[in-house]
Amino acid sequence: MTTSAALTVAIDGPGSSGKSSVGAAVAAELGYRFCDTGLLYRAITWLALARGIPETDAAGLIGLIEEIELKPDAQQRLVRVAVGGRDVTDEVRGPDVDARVSVFARVPEVRSALLVEQRRIAAGAGIVMAGRDIGTVVLPDADVKIYLDASVEERARRRTGERGLRGDADPDGAGAAKILAQLRRRDDLDRGRAVAPLRPADDAVVITTDGNTLGQTVALVVAAIRSAGARPGAVASAAAPPAGSRRAGR
Ligand code: DC
Repeated sequence: MTTSAALTVAIDGPGSSGKSSVGAAVAAELGYRFCDTGLLYRAITWLALARGIPETDAAGLIGLIEEIELKPDAQQRLVRVAVGGRDVTDEVRGPDVDARVSVFARVPEVRSALLVEQRRIAAGAGIVMAGRDIGTVVLPDADVKIYLDASVEERARRRTGERGLRGDADPDGAGAAKILAQLRRRDDLDRGRAVAPLRPADDAVVITTDGNTLGQTVALVVAAIRSAGARPGAVASAAAPPAGSRRAGR
């Protein structure tokens, strides 16, 4: 079932907070398009590492953008990325990029260039866009802003599971400990950068997902969007947050 109005939805949050899986599932349920903007930063980082371009070479980094293309799946969700026509989604999600992407994502010139690209993708509404600064910078007029949060320990467990490491069976394992340390470092870099730091927009609905199943979080986000869409002329900031969520800053 789709909502009556096609809205623009921003979903932000720290690494492994579930933005991509939740956003893609919400978009499928509502018949919206979806865009995972982290793939753009990841693809630039992957290419820069492959070509030996340092984060200090802003012009070199911007030059990489024209080689990068987000690819839709069968449901028009931009969840894959290609470089020079080759799908590199699995590579850009690897540990080398994890370790370096926040450093490249701090470069102001890279952020400005990608801002234009992200706004072009979002034009026309009926879209869920996931990232770090979507509600604050990329789409400050989004109809609905969601900030997905979770403790760093919970996020590390999820990431460890994704990587096929023995998360629960081996909580002190070297692989799991490294993932936790790396998430903490990325959080610090993403929250502390000068341009477009990670933070909830003042009018975002904050949903903490510790202990939630994917389905529970998807239901909360869909409820927030439907309640915004059900009010003619109303925007998300006027809608009551669904149970299990709260407004940013409260
Ligand atoms: O969501 P992700 O883990 O795939 O994002 C990878 C990195 O990209 C993240 O550490 C910060 C950066 N990023 C960003 O700065 N702004 C966005 N809108 C999306 C991602």
